[in-house]
Amino acid sequence: MHTRHREPQLLGNEATLERMARILAARNIDLADAALPDDAETFSPLDALLAGMPPRYQAAVADHPRVLEWVRKVTDAAVAPSRGARRQVTTGPSLLMAGVVGAGKTHQAYGAVRALVQSGVGARWRATTAADLYADLRPRPGVDSERELAAVSRCPLLIIDDLGAAKASEWVEEITYRLINRRYNYELPTLITTNLAIKDLRSYLGDRVASRLAQMTTRVEFEAVDRRRHSAAA
Ligand SMILES: Nc1ncnc2c1ncn2[C@@H]1O[C@H](COP(=O)(O)OP(=O)(O)OP(=O)(O)O)[C@@H](O)[C@H]1O
Ligand SMILES: [Mg+2]
Repeated sequence: MHTRHREPQLLGNEATLERMARILAARNIDLADAALPDDAETFSPLDALLAGMPPRYQAAVADHPRVLEWVRKVTDAAVAPSRGARRQVTTGPSLLMAGVVGAGKTHQAYGAVRALVQSGVGARWRATTAADLYADLRPRPGVDSERELAAVSRCPLLIIDDLGAAKASEWVEEITYRLINRRYNYELPTLITTNLAIKDLRSYLGDRVASRLAQMTTRVEFEAVDRRRHSAAA
């Protein structure tokens, strides 16, 4: 229940803030510290999630049965880092979503992350297209690309979008191997989308990556419909 004297006064009014700070200081509370928990609560996990999502996929709802099954498994495997803390994504299976351009793979991937967070599980996640990732990881002056690779490799939940869309090379194969091997060893949930047929992934990525993906992922093959053209016609 709200008590009268705690009714909000004009926040943002500097005089009020200063008066509050003085009152709190008298009780040995630093205003900056005191403000933190409130902020954290109003900035809900879903808000935090949406802040990192591309607008096109912010409302994406995962409805593919295999994707929903994956969400359930990763949710079930989530662990609270300490007693009473929110459960976090830790380990779990991965998904390999293959299909033609516009089939809805990226939509399902973001939808899956949304579903996870909505289920109440915390997830530190990242999303990148494979092409952007390779560009970020290209050795160049002033950038610690090894550190970047380590950060992406260890991120609890990772979307690798459009694997196989960048030009194949020995370097691409090696970086992909190091990334996938890390995630394979640590059993970190990874959502991968690709335009390649699953049988073509092997020649593009090499045997070692293909073998690990075969074991760590569930394959989801999408119907060959370009939803972009479909919705334009509708
Ligand atoms: N289940 C869905 N419901 C409504 N809209 C969808 C659904 N799936 C995809 N879309 C829409 O269809 C379009 C294509 O989807 P998406 O970008 O996910 O395709 P994609 O398979 O990732 O294509 P690409 O291989 O070119 O990256 C997008 O505008 C997306 O918002
Ligand atoms: Mg896509």
